[in-house]
Amino acid sequence: MNGTFIVFEGIDHSGKSTQVRLLSKKLIEKGYEVLNVREPGGTNISEKIRKIILDNKNIEMHEKTEALLFQASRAQLVNEKILPALKEGKVVIADRYIFSSLAYQGGGRLISKDSLKSLCSFATGDLLPDFTFFTDISFETYAQRKNWSRKNLDRIEQENASFFTEVRKAYLNLVNEFENFCVVDSNGVIEKIHLEICKILSTRLKGL
Ligand code: TYD
Repeated sequence: MNGTFIVFEGIDHSGKSTQVRLLSKKLIEKGYEVLNVREPGGTNISEKIRKIILDNKNIEMHEKTEALLFQASRAQLVNEKILPALKEGKVVIADRYIFSSLAYQGGGRLISKDSLKSLCSFATGDLLPDFTFFTDISFETYAQRKNWSRKNLDRIEQENASFFTEVRKAYLNLVNEFENFCVVDSNGVIEKIHLEICKILSTRLKGL
């Protein structure tokens, strides 16, 4: 595969999507062909699945159903968009990937990690990113940003504080398990965090 696959992960309000935007803009300015995708979603079918997953009315959704819907959305995205783009040599930037399942459904919903790993492996055909950036924030930053945020909370964002503490812990446990899984301290200044990410990527993407 000629392209480069970059994944951003983080708990809600971690500033992950801002970093995705900044990196994508920088890479395009430098002449790279970039495909941006988000999970759940990113294809027609996956966006329909996203609506089901996040719908506040679906209070009866079983955690296994939730776990499988994320994988269904992912399987479609990988095969329809990510693999073809990587074959064409593009840089693919994904806002969330398999690590979200391991952290939210594993750490948050307490589904076994082995089961989740098998599901991820089936859905993605074992496609792993070249780089993963986990934008990490403290619980204090999380609570503060959540208070400031005025958006309507979806089904998963409505979970309580201990859910997010467990999700964060599960993310941090992935550091030693996956190659190039970088923890980026995201409590601070946006531009500084962006530069740190570019520095790590410059080992592979020239001109950053
Ligand atoms: P989204 O609005 O895309 O959130 P964000 O901007 O934080 O990425 O909603 C996606 C939600 O789904 C988010 O709360 C994380 C959750 N999620 C999982 O629980 N498991 C997964 O595998 C994925 C991809 C997302």
